[in-house]
Amino acid sequence: MIGGDGIGPEVVAEALKVVRAAGVELDTTDFDLGGARYLKDGTILPDDVLDELRGFDAILLGAVGTPDVPPGVIERGLLLKMRFALDQYVNLRPFTLADAGIDFLVVRENTEGTYAGEGGFLRKGTPDEIATQGSVNTRMGVERVIRYAFELAASRPRRHLTMVHKTNVLTFAGDLWQRTFEEVGSEFPEVTTAYNHVDAACIFFVQDPQRYDVIVTDNLFGDILTDLGGAVSGGIGFASSGNLDPTRRAPSMFEPVHGSAPDIAGQAKANPIAAILSAAMMLDLLGEAEAAERIRKACAATTDLSASTPEIGDAVAARL
Ligand code: NAD
Ligand code: IPM
Ligand code: MN
Repeated sequence: MIGGDGIGPEVVAEALKVVRAAGVELDTTDFDLGGARYLKDGTILPDDVLDELRGFDAILLGAVGTPDVPPGVIERGLLLKMRFALDQYVNLRPFTLADAGIDFLVVRENTEGTYAGEGGFLRKGTPDEIATQGSVNTRMGVERVIRYAFELAASRPRRHLTMVHKTNVLTFAGDLWQRTFEEVGSEFPEVTTAYNHVDAACIFFVQDPQRYDVIVTDNLFGDILTDLGGAVSGGIGFASSGNLDPTRRAPSMFEPVHGSAPDIAGQAKANPIAAILSAAMMLDLLGEAEAAERIRKACAATTDLSASTPEIGDAVAARL
């Protein structure tokens, strides 16, 4: 358990409460990681802590990042470091809003792209300053996430996979993604495919999200689109995610899509459903699929979201 910053500890507490109410006994260990620790002793994610994390079956995380620390220090040093070091190359983000007919998943590449951190400054702080920020796309990295998305699409009733990119401008990375999508796709004749440029995908997310079944996209587009996905399917407080290592060499990490929400932290105003649904995804992986399904049903039946964070957790737990 890594509660992290802001509303993170508030929402993971409710997730754990609900898991226990579902009758699943988890042996948990709390890790003090995030902004508070960094401000206390200057450490973010020491190597021995990272090694310790490798020994767990799963990681449940709230959110990280605080206005007290410059942007990116904790986000890169903790969250991205774990995603990369544990090679959690799939970021799986489901969106459902049954009444509206919305039911799709975004498979976000989670270890490459602009997130790899390629770039730097020249002549920093001078009028001639140059900042570059590259995008890393390896054939191996692109292929493995696209293959995961095809396998996922093949397992669903609609069997439809859309790739989202910006091939009309990002002609190098886009070309690699497009070729890989076509080549891997030839192994899945049962899956129908589509392609959207990311700007058009923003229109469709708002006006016609029902068209989507599974989407595969690069790291940054997936980051942006999944906040939008949350907003159009009930709100960001419902959006769950799993950072997966499908090979299971390392633990996967489950967390809500949202951040630490400093604007509402400490006020018991956060919606804990996203964290609870992330814990349900974790239970699927831990072999507790039946409990996970009961938790999802209990969340769907919990409609009074004007209540406080612990009250919402209590209401979901009571249904279990
Ligand atoms: P945010 O997602 O924290 O907040 C955006 C808006 O959504 C805010 O108005 C917030 O109050 C609202 N919101 C978020 N979660 C909510 C919930 N569960 N219930 C009700 N309202 C909710 O995004 P931000 O403000 O851009 O980022 C704040 C910090 O969080 C930054 O440091 C950022 O880097 C970090 N962040 C961390 C993660 C993560 O740990 N996975 C994800 C996104 C942002
Ligand atoms: C997310 C977050 C992270 C990301 C940040 C905090 C590094 O926004 O999980 O969506 O950009 O991946
Ligand atoms: Mn994000």
